[in-house]
Amino acid sequence: MRNEFVFCLPTRIEFGNGSIDQTGSIAKELGAKKVIVITDKGLSRTEILERLRHSLSEAKIEVVLYDDVRANPRDTEAQRAADFARSEQVDAVIACGGGSSMDLAKAVAALLTNEGEIRSIMKPNEVPNKPAPLICVPTTAGTGSEVTSFAVLTIEEESRKSSIFDDKIRPDVAIEDPSVLQHLPPPVAASTGMDALTHAIEAYTCKLATPLTDGLALQAIRYIAESLPEFIHVRSEESCRKMMAGSLMAGIAFGFSDIAGVHCMAEALGGMYDTPHGVANAIFLPIVFEYNMETDLKRHRDVAVALGISPVGKRDEEIAAEAVIWMRSISREMKIPTLQELGYVSVQKFDELAELCMKNVSLSSNCRELGKTDFIDLYKRAYNLG
Ligand SMILES: [Fe+2]
Repeated sequence: MRNEFVFCLPTRIEFGNGSIDQTGSIAKELGAKKVIVITDKGLSRTEILERLRHSLSEAKIEVVLYDDVRANPRDTEAQRAADFARSEQVDAVIACGGGSSMDLAKAVAALLTNEGEIRSIMKPNEVPNKPAPLICVPTTAGTGSEVTSFAVLTIEEESRKSSIFDDKIRPDVAIEDPSVLQHLPPPVAASTGMDALTHAIEAYTCKLATPLTDGLALQAIRYIAESLPEFIHVRSEESCRKMMAGSLMAGIAFGFSDIAGVHCMAEALGGMYDTPHGVANAIFLPIVFEYNMETDLKRHRDVAVALGISPVGKRDEEIAAEAVIWMRSISREMKIPTLQELGYVSVQKFDELAELCMKNVSLSSNCRELGKTDFIDLYKRAYNLG
């Protein structure tokens, strides 16, 4: 854990059922006259988008729509969206959707106030001017992107993920409306929920954890673990509220701490095969947790207890080991496929995937050292070969 840290969250958070209807007045406060709404085709004809547009029109704000966002957005797509936003001369950006929409919107907001092409800002701290005002309306309880300073994009010509990483791209406002989660299809609710859980666990167990992120991460684990099954099967109001809060807190936690080995493996897989990010995290979470736990048993034990595992009469090793069983069983319950069941992952690619893991900026944050052969072993283990 770090003893010295800086914590400053400039993003204003509006949390509550119906907060999506405030988007127009908030955009007006930010000085917006013409906005681009960035979303995906699945959402663009839903009531959620309808409410968002209604709120903007009530505030007399002109809207142009970009609804071409796909999962694991490419740098080329971000460039296309930015070119469109530039040609429309919008003065603010609104993202409505999951991590893909929000990450792409961060790129667009940055390119509205900075000359040049997307690749010129895809290095740490390479966004010279403050981006255009950005409001994020997350419609999944997963990514936490609405409060982070990263935007993950796949570099199309290299089939690998990379990031814009700069404090300036953190959104101005995050509108957290738990009621929008009612519309999520169950497989999306499951995979994005596992992404949020992974953020919280990695934020707590990685080397860059701080006292502040510890508090947020542990409470996020509790909220997510106790509400995820109900969220998937029943989608009660209470479970939506806890998942939205858990995902938000996990996002703040890893944004000021880091992610680690699970995300290294998941991002490599997603870059190569387009695997949904949350599915990839769910696959690798128990494998990496098991690999890491002997290095920092106390923290892995804390995670297990936050997941709801009783510590009474057990040694720390046993408590942490039960967390691995919990993770595997919740993934099975939510019908998340195994690495093998994905059906398209070639064992011959493990070497290349491990290479990609070694290039991940969060590699050094993992609490236990991870080398290329370790990653190959972990991919094999996830494939039931080790
Ligand atoms: Fe993630």
